Amino acid sequence: MINSCPHNSNSPTEHLLHRLYALQQQFLHISPSAMQQVAAEYHLSLSQVASVVEFYSFFHTQPCGRFHILFSNCTSCGYLVGEQNLMLMFCRQLQVTPGKTRNDGCVSVDETSCIGMCDQDASLLINGLPITRLNAQKMAQIAQLIATETPLAQWPKEWFEIQDKGYQRNLLQTEKFIPGNALQKALTQGAEKTLSAILQSELCGRGGAGFNTGKKWQFCREAPGNAHYVVCNADEGEPGTFKDRLLLRDQADALFEGMALCAFVIGAEKGFVYLRGEYRYLLPHLHAVLNRRRQQGLLGQSILGYASIHFDIEIVVGAGAYICGEESALIESLEGKPGIPRIRPPFPVTHGYLGQPTVINNVETLIAAAHISVHGSAWFKSVGTEKSTGSKILSVSGDCRSPGIYEYAFGVSIQQVLDDCHACTVQAVQIGGPAGKMIGAADFNRTISFEDISTGGSFLIFGQQRNLLSIHRNFARFFAHESCGFCTPCRVGTQLLKNNLDKIANGRGTAYDIKELQQLGQLIQHHSHCGLGHTAANHILDSLQHFPQTFNANLKQHFTAQFDLDQALENARQVTHRDDAAAHLD
Ligand SMILES: Cc1cc2nc3c(=O)[nH]c(=O)nc-3n(C[C@H](O)[C@H](O)[C@H](O)COP(=O)(O)O)c2cc1C
Ligand code: SF4
Repeated sequence: MINSCPHNSNSPTEHLLHRLYALQQQFLHISPSAMQQVAAEYHLSLSQVASVVEFYSFFHTQPCGRFHILFSNCTSCGYLVGEQNLMLMFCRQLQVTPGKTRNDGCVSVDETSCIGMCDQDASLLINGLPITRLNAQKMAQIAQLIATETPLAQWPKEWFEIQDKGYQRNLLQTEKFIPGNALQKALTQGAEKTLSAILQSELCGRGGAGFNTGKKWQFCREAPGNAHYVVCNADEGEPGTFKDRLLLRDQADALFEGMALCAFVIGAEKGFVYLRGEYRYLLPHLHAVLNRRRQQGLLGQSILGYASIHFDIEIVVGAGAYICGEESALIESLEGKPGIPRIRPPFPVTHGYLGQPTVINNVETLIAAAHISVHGSAWFKSVGTEKSTGSKILSVSGDCRSPGIYEYAFGVSIQQVLDDCHACTVQAVQIGGPAGKMIGAADFNRTISFEDISTGGSFLIFGQQRNLLSIHRNFARFFAHESCGFCTPCRVGTQLLKNNLDKIANGRGTAYDIKELQQLGQLIQHHSHCGLGHTAANHILDSLQHFPQTFNANLKQHFTAQFDLDQALENARQVTHRDDAAAHLD
């Protein structure tokens, strides 16, 4: 078994993030002495441990409350419901200030980026567990339970149940997956034929970038290394995306089998699922499926009786950093470090986890691979378009009657999705999350496909009643908060974009600020180090083009001078003995 926290071969086997999380659970924060203790256990310097604690937003160096509440600030599952601000309402009831812990240590309240509950109305995390479908009445009940310090185990059980809703089904959700079928077929026919089926299917990554999956596996298979690894990217943090949440619950078997197939093709014996911290509640279910698969001989030593085939999977839980969805940042995090993206190339297929060849795939991609292995590439290519084979699962939320999971053959029009989810009077759709594309009615005949508009899954709908400027402020705030700070264009640029939008929204913006938004947006897009920066200004640049009124309607048209600049230069004129026309301002 390979050590899961690889700083030093004598380190404890528990992953560093898990150790820190456990300490925080116990002491409600991670104190300097706890960091010192962890540094000694893991043979790290104190500053290495401190840098990890500081990086992840779910770790605290000051005590949080015994009830620690994080409200999502997403446009779909956030605490702003119509005119109501549920977070402020709740804070008033419990007399706690947002971002602070109440003096008696009972409760702390803060906000966090989207928690992936966008089809579940306003949502929060309490001590890491999600509660959804919030309204004023439920908040009052929660406040009462906290006031009486009632343990969470005694709270209504149904509050913690997530009612996933799947509407449209296509390839991946109609076929029943029988554990072991894909693996049995792969082991019988061999690694080359298994790879060939994936190549022929032309499956492309479902995590956003759309890289050809078969080619990725092939590059990794051919790369020299001491060990190869397969990693499932289950860090879905793009606001408006929640399809992996449902897949992890309903198709965990297909996911683990897809990982085992990949491992068989590339020659890996170890795999990781990097699960976003917000989905920690799925851990018992995922561990149960892993354990059952070990008992069935589908994981572990000598899989299905093949003496030389060994493979096992470990789940590593993130700690509230959207950037860890970026594959090289994810690897850094897996290695127990802050999730700062690496310089690429080299790419993970040759230099990934511990510098070894590594395949990283999205949850949906790996599930598709498992189904392809069972049903064949022709089955997969029977739907979709020429360059986008198969189906795509969308997370639909926002202003529509039926938010939830929709699976379509690639090539479906935006209008079709809007009709199916009963969205009327739509002003704009944000496809691919804040990093994606904002389109208006003129583009609703366009399609979801790699040829046209591609998406990792997020499909956010904004009705006519929505103020688009406040949506952009929300997105800009998200990027300014989630920027890892490594490179200046993104660290400073995302903050400036946010400030600029705030200025416009507060009625202090001018035409100059619009120009500034445009220039700054392009600068961040072209000069940032990683995909987060490259895409952080997309929503603003799109909207400047398609919805200019969003910004222009708020601009200040006339100035009333508050300050006489010519008068202010009087001292300088006297010192230089000048009073000619050129020494005055027009
Ligand atoms: C800021 C950022 C966040 C990302 N988040 C995710 C994510 O949550 N899930 C995901 O699969 N890919 C995410 N990606 C893309 C990954 O870097 C990578 O391309 C993907 O996991 C590869 O898997 P695929 O080929 O199956 O799509 C993100 C990229 C960036 C730049
Ligand atoms: S672009 Fe942003 S998130 Fe990416 S490395 Fe630079 S600062 Fe970090």
